Amino acid sequence: MNPALERIRTAKAQGRKIAALTAYDYPTAKLVDESGIDLILVGDSLGMVVLGLPDTVEVTMDDMLHHTRAAARGVERALLVADLPARSYENPADAVRNARRLVEAGAHAVKLEGGVRAQAQIAAITAADIPLLAHIGMLPQSVREEGGYKIKGRSEEGARALLADARAVEAAGAFGVVIELATPAAARDITAALAIPTIGIGAGTACDGQILVLHDLVGLFPWFRPKFVTAQAEVGAEIRAAAASYIAQVRGETPRPDGRVDGT
Ligand code: KIV
Repeated sequence: MNPALERIRTAKAQGRKIAALTAYDYPTAKLVDESGIDLILVGDSLGMVVLGLPDTVEVTMDDMLHHTRAAARGVERALLVADLPARSYENPADAVRNARRLVEAGAHAVKLEGGVRAQAQIAAITAADIPLLAHIGMLPQSVREEGGYKIKGRSEEGARALLADARAVEAAGAFGVVIELATPAAARDITAALAIPTIGIGAGTACDGQILVLHDLVGLFPWFRPKFVTAQAEVGAEIRAAAASYIAQVRGETPRPDGRVDGT
Protein backbone atom coordinates (compact mmCIF):
# COMPACT_ATOMS: atom_id res chain seq x y z
CA MET A 1 0.00 0.00 0.00
CA ASN A 2 1.10 3.58 -0.65
CA PRO A 3 2.91 4.61 2.60
CA ALA A 4 1.08 7.96 2.70
CA LEU A 5 -2.27 6.15 2.53
CA GLU A 6 -1.11 3.71 5.20
CA ARG A 7 -0.21 6.68 7.49
CA ILE A 8 -3.70 8.10 6.99
CA ARG A 9 -5.43 4.76 7.52
CA THR A 10 -3.63 4.21 10.83
CA ALA A 11 -3.82 7.82 12.10
CA LYS A 12 -7.23 7.57 13.77
CA ALA A 13 -6.42 4.44 15.79
CA GLN A 14 -3.11 6.00 16.82
CA GLY A 15 -4.71 9.34 17.81
CA ARG A 16 -2.71 11.32 15.20
CA LYS A 17 -4.57 14.23 13.58
CA ILE A 18 -4.45 14.42 9.77
CA ALA A 19 -3.41 17.73 8.17
CA ALA A 20 -4.51 18.32 4.57
CA LEU A 21 -4.27 21.23 2.12
CA THR A 22 -5.15 21.83 -1.50
CA ALA A 23 -2.56 22.51 -4.22
CA TYR A 24 -3.12 22.86 -7.93
CA ASP A 25 0.30 23.21 -9.55
CA TYR A 26 3.93 22.08 -9.31
CA PRO A 27 5.44 24.76 -7.04
CA THR A 28 2.64 24.88 -4.48
CA ALA A 29 2.32 21.09 -4.37
CA LYS A 30 6.11 20.79 -3.90
CA LEU A 31 6.20 23.45 -1.17
CA VAL A 32 3.27 21.94 0.71
CA ASP A 33 4.70 18.42 0.33
CA GLU A 34 8.05 19.61 1.72
CA SER A 35 6.19 21.04 4.75
CA GLY A 36 5.28 17.49 5.82
CA ILE A 37 1.54 17.62 5.08
CA ASP A 38 -0.31 14.27 5.15
CA LEU A 39 -2.63 14.78 2.19
CA ILE A 40 -2.68 17.15 -0.78
CA LEU A 41 -5.94 17.64 -2.63
CA VAL A 42 -6.11 18.86 -6.20
CA GLY A 43 -9.55 20.21 -5.40
CA ASP A 44 -12.11 21.43 -7.88
CA SER A 45 -11.97 24.61 -5.76
CA LEU A 46 -9.35 25.44 -8.41
CA GLY A 47 -12.37 26.69 -10.36
CA MET A 48 -12.60 29.67 -8.01
CA VAL A 49 -9.09 30.27 -6.71
CA VAL A 50 -7.14 29.52 -9.93
CA LEU A 51 -9.51 29.76 -12.89
CA GLY A 52 -11.62 32.73 -11.73
CA LEU A 53 -14.96 30.92 -11.99
CA PRO A 54 -17.83 31.73 -9.59
CA ASP A 55 -18.02 28.18 -8.18
CA THR A 56 -16.84 24.61 -8.87
CA VAL A 57 -19.75 23.64 -11.10
CA GLU A 58 -18.12 24.27 -14.51
CA VAL A 59 -14.75 22.65 -13.71
CA THR A 60 -14.09 19.90 -16.26
CA MET A 61 -12.21 16.60 -16.33
CA ASP A 62 -9.66 18.26 -18.63
CA ASP A 63 -9.07 20.99 -16.00
CA MET A 64 -8.62 18.35 -13.29
CA LEU A 65 -6.27 16.21 -15.40
CA HIS A 66 -4.11 19.22 -16.33
CA HIS A 67 -3.72 20.38 -12.71
CA THR A 68 -3.34 16.85 -11.30
CA ARG A 69 -0.41 16.20 -13.68
CA ALA A 70 1.27 19.44 -12.60
CA ALA A 71 0.76 18.85 -8.86
CA ALA A 72 1.87 15.20 -9.12
CA ARG A 73 5.28 16.29 -10.43
CA GLY A 74 5.85 18.11 -7.11
CA VAL A 75 4.68 15.44 -4.64
CA GLU A 76 7.05 12.87 -3.14
CA ARG A 77 5.68 12.13 0.33
CA ALA A 78 2.03 13.11 0.78
CA LEU A 79 -1.04 11.31 -0.46
CA LEU A 80 -2.18 13.08 -3.64
CA VAL A 81 -5.96 13.07 -4.02
CA ALA A 82 -7.74 14.54 -7.06
CA ASP A 83 -11.38 15.63 -7.24
CA LEU A 84 -13.79 14.07 -9.69
CA PRO A 85 -15.52 17.20 -11.03
CA ALA A 86 -19.28 17.70 -11.40
CA ARG A 87 -20.94 15.40 -13.98
CA SER A 88 -17.91 13.07 -14.20
CA TYR A 89 -19.45 10.36 -11.97
CA GLU A 90 -23.13 10.29 -12.83
CA ASN A 91 -23.09 6.46 -12.84
CA PRO A 92 -20.65 3.79 -11.58
CA ALA A 93 -19.10 3.13 -15.02
CA ASP A 94 -18.31 6.84 -15.60
CA ALA A 95 -17.04 7.12 -12.04
CA VAL A 96 -14.52 4.29 -12.51
CA ARG A 97 -13.45 5.45 -15.98
CA ASN A 98 -12.78 9.02 -14.85
CA ALA A 99 -11.18 7.94 -11.56
CA ARG A 100 -8.72 5.83 -13.62
CA ARG A 101 -7.87 8.86 -15.76
CA LEU A 102 -7.02 10.88 -12.63
CA VAL A 103 -4.83 8.03 -11.35
CA GLU A 104 -3.07 7.88 -14.74
CA ALA A 105 -2.45 11.64 -14.35
CA GLY A 106 -0.64 10.96 -11.07
CA ALA A 107 -3.28 10.93 -8.31
CA HIS A 108 -2.98 8.24 -5.63
CA ALA A 109 -6.67 8.53 -4.77
CA VAL A 110 -9.81 10.38 -5.86
CA LYS A 111 -12.57 12.29 -4.08
CA LEU A 112 -16.21 12.73 -5.01
CA GLU A 113 -19.16 14.48 -3.39
CA GLY A 114 -22.20 12.72 -1.97
CA GLY A 115 -23.19 10.21 0.70
CA VAL A 116 -26.07 7.77 0.27
CA ARG A 117 -26.70 9.00 -3.28
CA ALA A 118 -23.07 8.32 -4.34
CA GLN A 119 -22.76 4.93 -2.63
CA ALA A 120 -22.83 2.88 -5.87
CA GLN A 121 -20.14 5.08 -7.46
CA ILE A 122 -17.92 4.81 -4.37
CA ALA A 123 -18.34 1.02 -4.24
CA ALA A 124 -17.44 0.73 -7.94
CA ILE A 125 -14.32 2.90 -7.58
CA THR A 126 -13.04 1.06 -4.50
CA ALA A 127 -13.83 -2.31 -6.16
CA ALA A 128 -11.53 -1.15 -8.99
CA ASP A 129 -8.77 -0.75 -6.34
CA ILE A 130 -8.74 3.03 -6.46
CA PRO A 131 -8.64 4.57 -2.98
CA LEU A 132 -11.52 6.95 -2.46
CA LEU A 133 -12.02 9.91 -0.15
CA ALA A 134 -15.70 10.76 0.28
CA HIS A 135 -17.12 14.28 0.80
CA ILE A 136 -20.35 14.93 2.70
CA GLY A 137 -22.05 17.92 4.32
CA MET A 138 -22.18 21.03 2.16
CA LEU A 139 -21.46 19.85 -1.38
CA PRO A 140 -20.02 22.72 -3.48
CA GLN A 141 -20.90 20.99 -6.77
CA SER A 142 -24.58 21.33 -5.71
CA VAL A 143 -24.31 24.96 -4.55
CA ARG A 144 -26.66 26.25 -7.25
CA GLU A 145 -29.45 23.76 -6.34
CA GLU A 146 -28.83 24.41 -2.63
CA GLY A 147 -28.95 28.20 -3.05
CA GLY A 148 -25.67 28.89 -1.23
CA TYR A 149 -23.08 27.52 1.18
CA LYS A 150 -25.26 26.48 4.13
CA ILE A 151 -24.26 24.72 7.33
CA LYS A 152 -25.51 21.12 7.54
CA GLY A 153 -26.74 19.14 10.54
CA ARG A 154 -28.49 21.97 12.38
CA SER A 155 -31.79 20.10 12.83
CA GLU A 156 -32.14 16.60 14.31
CA GLU A 157 -33.29 15.35 10.92
CA GLY A 158 -30.35 17.04 9.19
CA ALA A 159 -27.87 15.53 11.66
CA ARG A 160 -29.44 12.08 11.15
CA ALA A 161 -29.17 12.42 7.35
CA LEU A 162 -25.53 13.44 7.65
CA LEU A 163 -24.77 10.42 9.84
CA ALA A 164 -26.55 8.17 7.30
CA ASP A 165 -24.35 9.67 4.54
CA ALA A 166 -21.24 9.03 6.62
CA ARG A 167 -22.18 5.42 7.32
CA ALA A 168 -23.00 4.89 3.61
CA VAL A 169 -19.59 6.07 2.38
CA GLU A 170 -17.79 3.98 5.00
CA ALA A 171 -19.80 0.89 4.02
CA ALA A 172 -19.00 1.54 0.34
CA GLY A 173 -15.25 1.41 1.05
CA ALA A 174 -14.09 5.04 1.38
CA PHE A 175 -10.79 5.32 3.30
CA GLY A 176 -11.86 8.66 4.81
CA VAL A 177 -14.51 11.32 4.57
CA VAL A 178 -14.36 15.09 4.26
CA ILE A 179 -17.12 16.82 6.22
CA GLU A 180 -17.67 20.33 4.88
CA LEU A 181 -19.68 23.02 6.72
CA ALA A 182 -21.43 20.96 9.38
CA THR A 183 -22.24 21.79 12.98
CA PRO A 184 -19.41 20.79 15.34
CA ALA A 185 -21.85 18.49 17.19
CA ALA A 186 -22.87 16.62 14.02
CA ALA A 187 -19.21 16.27 12.94
CA ARG A 188 -18.26 15.05 16.44
CA ASP A 189 -20.99 12.38 16.42
CA ILE A 190 -19.97 11.17 12.95
CA THR A 191 -16.32 11.05 14.01
CA ALA A 192 -17.25 8.91 17.02
CA ALA A 193 -19.46 6.60 14.93
CA LEU A 194 -16.99 5.82 12.09
CA ALA A 195 -13.84 3.71 12.05
CA ILE A 196 -12.49 5.69 9.04
CA PRO A 197 -11.09 9.20 9.66
CA THR A 198 -13.18 12.33 9.24
CA ILE A 199 -11.44 15.40 7.78
CA GLY A 200 -13.28 18.61 8.54
CA ILE A 201 -13.53 21.97 6.83
CA GLY A 202 -15.71 24.42 8.70
CA ALA A 203 -16.94 21.52 10.86
CA GLY A 204 -15.37 22.10 14.28
CA THR A 205 -12.37 20.63 16.04
CA ALA A 206 -13.59 17.11 16.83
CA CYS A 207 -12.79 15.68 13.38
CA ASP A 208 -9.81 13.35 12.94
CA GLY A 209 -8.15 15.92 10.68
CA GLN A 210 -8.62 19.24 8.95
CA ILE A 211 -8.39 20.41 5.35
CA LEU A 212 -8.15 23.94 3.94
CA VAL A 213 -7.86 25.59 0.57
CA LEU A 214 -4.21 26.71 0.41
CA HIS A 215 -5.12 30.11 -1.03
CA ASP A 216 -7.30 30.84 2.03
CA LEU A 217 -4.56 29.76 4.44
CA VAL A 218 -1.85 31.93 2.87
CA GLY A 219 -3.94 34.93 1.79
CA LEU A 220 -3.52 34.27 -1.92
CA PHE A 221 -7.20 34.92 -2.67
CA PRO A 222 -7.73 38.10 -0.63
CA TRP A 223 -11.05 39.03 -2.25
CA PHE A 224 -12.88 36.34 -0.27
CA ARG A 225 -11.94 34.39 2.85
CA PRO A 226 -14.25 31.91 4.57
CA LYS A 227 -15.17 32.85 8.16
CA PHE A 228 -13.60 29.69 9.59
CA VAL A 229 -10.09 30.49 8.23
CA THR A 230 -7.43 32.59 9.94
CA ALA A 231 -4.80 33.32 7.29
CA GLN A 232 -1.25 32.38 8.35
CA ALA A 233 0.33 34.61 5.69
CA GLU A 234 -0.67 37.42 3.32
CA VAL A 235 0.90 36.31 0.06
CA GLY A 236 -1.55 38.41 -1.99
CA ALA A 237 -0.35 41.58 -0.24
CA GLU A 238 3.30 40.49 -0.76
CA ILE A 239 2.71 40.03 -4.50
CA ARG A 240 1.07 43.46 -4.80
CA ALA A 241 3.95 45.08 -2.86
CA ALA A 242 6.64 43.31 -4.94
CA ALA A 243 4.92 44.30 -8.20
CA ALA A 244 4.54 47.93 -7.03
CA SER A 245 8.21 48.08 -6.05
CA TYR A 246 9.27 46.70 -9.46
CA ILE A 247 7.00 49.18 -11.30
CA ALA A 248 8.55 52.07 -9.36
CA GLN A 249 12.08 50.84 -10.22
CA VAL A 250 11.30 50.47 -13.93
CA ARG A 251 9.78 53.97 -14.01
CA GLY A 252 12.85 55.39 -12.24
CA GLU A 253 10.79 56.52 -9.23
CA THR A 254 12.81 54.48 -6.70
CA PRO A 255 16.25 53.81 -8.26
CA ARG A 256 18.32 50.98 -6.76
CA PRO A 257 21.61 52.12 -5.13
CA ASP A 258 23.55 50.29 -7.90
CA GLY A 259 21.54 52.14 -10.58
CA ARG A 260 20.21 48.89 -12.10
CA VAL A 261 16.64 47.76 -12.53
CA ASP A 262 15.55 44.18 -11.67
CA GLY A 263 15.68 42.10 -14.83
CA THR A 264 18.38 44.13 -16.59
O1 KIV B 1 -12.22 21.38 -3.82
C1 KIV B 1 -11.81 21.52 -2.66
O2 KIV B 1 -10.91 22.30 -2.37
C2 KIV B 1 -12.44 20.72 -1.62
C3 KIV B 1 -12.10 21.07 -0.21
C4 KIV B 1 -12.84 22.28 0.19
C5 KIV B 1 -12.34 19.94 0.72
O3 KIV B 1 -13.23 19.87 -1.90
